[in-house]
Amino acid sequence: MKVPNNFLWGAATSAYQVEGAATTNGKKPSQQDVINKDSYKEFGFATAEIASDEYHHYKEDVALMKEMGFTSYRFSIAWSRVFPDGTGEPNPEGVQYYHDLIDELKAAGIEPIVTLYHYDLPWALVERYDGWIDRQVVADFEYFARFVINEFKDQVKYWTTINEQSIIVQYWTQKCYIPEEYLDGKHNQLRYQINHHMNLAHAIACNLVHELVPGGLVGAPLGYAPVYPLTGKPEDVMAAQNAQALRNDYYTDIYFKGFYNKAAQTYLEQHGLAPKIEPGDMELIASGKSDFMAVNYYASECAKWCPDDGTHEMRWSGVNRSGKKGEMSGYETHPGFYEMCKNPNLDTTDWDWAIDPIGMEYMLRDLYNRYNVPLMITENGLGAYDTLTEDGKIHDPYRIDYLSKHIAAMERAMDKGVEMIAYCPWSAVDLLSTSNGVKKRYGLIYVDRTDDDPKECKRVRKDSFYWYQRVIATNGEELGYDEWK
Ligand code: BG6
Repeated sequence: MKVPNNFLWGAATSAYQVEGAATTNGKKPSQQDVINKDSYKEFGFATAEIASDEYHHYKEDVALMKEMGFTSYRFSIAWSRVFPDGTGEPNPEGVQYYHDLIDELKAAGIEPIVTLYHYDLPWALVERYDGWIDRQVVADFEYFARFVINEFKDQVKYWTTINEQSIIVQYWTQKCYIPEEYLDGKHNQLRYQINHHMNLAHAIACNLVHELVPGGLVGAPLGYAPVYPLTGKPEDVMAAQNAQALRNDYYTDIYFKGFYNKAAQTYLEQHGLAPKIEPGDMELIASGKSDFMAVNYYASECAKWCPDDGTHEMRWSGVNRSGKKGEMSGYETHPGFYEMCKNPNLDTTDWDWAIDPIGMEYMLRDLYNRYNVPLMITENGLGAYDTLTEDGKIHDPYRIDYLSKHIAAMERAMDKGVEMIAYCPWSAVDLLSTSNGVKKRYGLIYVDRTDDDPKECKRVRKDSFYWYQRVIATNGEELGYDEWK
């Protein structure tokens, strides 16, 4: 089967990871400006102050996207650029920036896919009421979303709501600013309370798109990793089903069925982790219909049985901060439910993320068959060290290998009947990683900077740039990469 001619090829980024200009032209800090300042101090990772400086390079970046043949670009709008204090008066220069970016994209024939929220809550709202922890954030998000959707409704057809709620639950201190007093191990229920507030915000955004945007389409961009059992032992298979319920279905059932997955919610209730739900919440959630599902896929995950016999403690996902294989700080564990573990059958990136193209095919087929909605890939990519050679090139065959195998997996899923709207790998340009600074690179376009020195953020086409140009020109038929060399 051929990829349809209206298929959207592009790539993705998020505001705080590329824009920079963190306090320029009226913008005030977001929680990510604060979180990343702390991780600069702790780990030496770049701050979000300059990031990839897309704020000043957007014309050049759009020109490069056009050169690659993009027909879509997924990016997010920084709430704190539009409403520096979270609420109140919009910042005209901030709003203008997004008009300029969207106009530039449209003029280049590139369809904007806008994400309303990508981890960067205005810092003012953290100071006012601890951000997503407080229910007031839902009303403030509605205020922001209504303004933005209304402002760009004539140019933007595709909207995505809250980026990766599942990942926010797992890595809450990286993705949200969580005050110290909640980090004593006794407040983990707040992870799911934050998620509940986000579910309300997601439903509100879906309704707003349908109310305000003629022909507008909306869905949540979810971080999704299918879960395999470590072995064929029935207890491992059961553990994988439990992990699938709590890590994946807990979110997708909300988006497409309008209620919390029963097995996951029961587990959370039994452990004092379930969110407080107010009257009317579930009706609001059920009213927010998604038109498509957007998935961020990097890796599959693996689970094994974990007995609840007092020898294991509940814990959340670990992270590899060093970029040396094997230095992952631990795996999510829920005694009596499941324990996540390394899949011995798969190679990993230097940051211990399993590399599994078949997992993408498996996920797309599974999601499509269970929810019957078209899908978009809004992220997929390889974090890797890249080297700028003396002759000004970046040879990244590892990225080409990763992406080509994943596109092939998507095409196999399409062959089995899965309806796909778009493929937007992570990332268009190199950017500030959420957990590892700028040395972990994802881009098709190299940004010449280091964690310590932003230099001029000069753009350089990687080998993967030319490879992807060929993929798009052939509408996904030529995935090999020897030809263009
Ligand atoms: C996704 C996020 O979880 O993964 C992105 O939506 C992020 O914002 C990407 O950059 C890769 O993760 P990391 O931690 O390597 O930046």
